[in-house]
Amino acid sequence: DWTPDAFIDTTIAGLREKLGNDLVVLGLSGGVDSSVAAVLLHQAIGKNLHCIFVDNGLLRKDEFEQVLDSYKHMGLNVRGIKASDRFLGALAGLTDPEQKRKAIGRVFIEVFDDAAHEVQNVKWLGQGTIYPDVIESVSVKGPSATIKSHHNVGGLPDFMKLKVVEPLNTLFKDEVRRVGKALGLDDTLLGRHPFPGPGLAIRILGDITPEKVAILQEADAIYINNLKSSGWYDKVWQAGAIFLPVHSVGVMGDERTYENVVCLRAVSSVDGMTADWSHLPYELLAKISNEIINNVKGINRVVYDISSKPPATIEWE
Ligand code: XMP
Repeated sequence: DWTPDAFIDTTIAGLREKLGNDLVVLGLSGGVDSSVAAVLLHQAIGKNLHCIFVDNGLLRKDEFEQVLDSYKHMGLNVRGIKASDRFLGALAGLTDPEQKRKAIGRVFIEVFDDAAHEVQNVKWLGQGTIYPDVIESVSVKGPSATIKSHHNVGGLPDFMKLKVVEPLNTLFKDEVRRVGKALGLDDTLLGRHPFPGPGLAIRILGDITPEKVAILQEADAIYINNLKSSGWYDKVWQAGAIFLPVHSVGVMGDERTYENVVCLRAVSSVDGMTADWSHLPYELLAKISNEIINNVKGINRVVYDISSKPPATIEWE
């Protein structure tokens, strides 16, 4: 019978045997999989694991600092790299969703490769790949596609020539969470909603500017905080705010406004392949809408997405 404790014991023993005194570099995303993989590797080889956490400027409000802090509290040997300018620079003027994804993937590879080079004599690339990633290895949106397109243009980045160690590649998501819990990871980390690699770049429809990112981060933070305080965060599978590329007329005191629209999305799902829109209470939606419009300069209208997948997708891009 599979138990988290038995899995942890055999995996750590196996990792020690496989890795010996070798150095491993691993990219943390803030998500469950890479975090659990890192803690497992850390327990096996300690400081020989070098983690890299990249701020692409498209994370949720304050998330880079908070997550980096919690990684440090876990004792991980982690380096945080602030690279917002590089990502936002590469995104400037792009409006097509797949081009945005490619630009982000390309810059991530460059930033990660630079950081990995600073780990002298590194032999292995650690990854939080889980079993469903292995069987669905062909994903148009996933990082593998980005890496392939990069490969065709410029040759394989050096970190991709490393040997790969993937301690979670036989596990399903719920098993990863159980392993994480047994390893003592925080419930807030283990219970986090999935968040796409390209982050807010695919939640800002059309072109991306630092101003739009800042507006969306504020609105999204109000939304997520209200889901948490109302107890709804754990009842939905994923939620987030989307910045729409439209202006609408409003009124503030005696003034006419012409500002941006934010859409709230929340879905229930098992694996993201199909999803139903979440029936959040009207009172909660009303509170969130008021708070966003009253506090986030640049937004004068909030709408709620009532589309299920299929035919709509969870993200808008
Ligand atoms: P869709 O929009 O396809 O999303 O219904 C299904 C799940 O996949 C996530 N998603 C992504 N994750 N890179 C990622 O790492 C991406 O480019 C990407 N696009 C969508 C989405 O957040 C949802 O959980």
